Amino acid sequence: MRILVINGPNLNMLGVREPGIYGAQTYRDLTEFIAEAARAEGIEAECYQSNHEGALVDKIQEALGRFDGIVINPGAYTHTSIALLDAVKSVNIPTVEVHISDVTKREAFRQVSYIREACVKTYMGMGFEGYRQGMLFLKELIGGPKAGN
Ligand code: DQA
Repeated sequence: MRILVINGPNLNMLGVREPGIYGAQTYRDLTEFIAEAARAEGIEAECYQSNHEGALVDKIQEALGRFDGIVINPGAYTHTSIALLDAVKSVNIPTVEVHISDVTKREAFRQVSYIREACVKTYMGMGFEGYRQGMLFLKELIGGPKAGN
């Protein structure tokens, strides 16, 4: 099974940006973590990051017919983007929302997630582990007894 892992704005700055909130590990560390977690589960994972809302919409649209599931951390677009919500609804690919930090314990403006209503599950406050949990959830959901084939 093929999973597309999408990271939105400023996640390329991991390791530099607010390490007290997001940790000391870099975006490259994250992609290596995802590749390793996917390999261990027999999942083909592709990572994509962009700071641009339209590029993220394009990537979600291009996933149609190419990926079985999406794991997405939309960054700040979580709290602002109806376009990303509509894109996920459009392709109808099972999608998991991930946040490195626990947004429920942060500012009021982070309490809204537009994308959440199109997602089958949300993981937050687990650091990189949330991405692995997201892939495992999709494997269970989509793969069923055929997982790994
Ligand atoms: C984030 C939380 C968002 O509120 C923030 O804008 C981000 C990262 C997280 O992974 O915890 O960029 O999605």
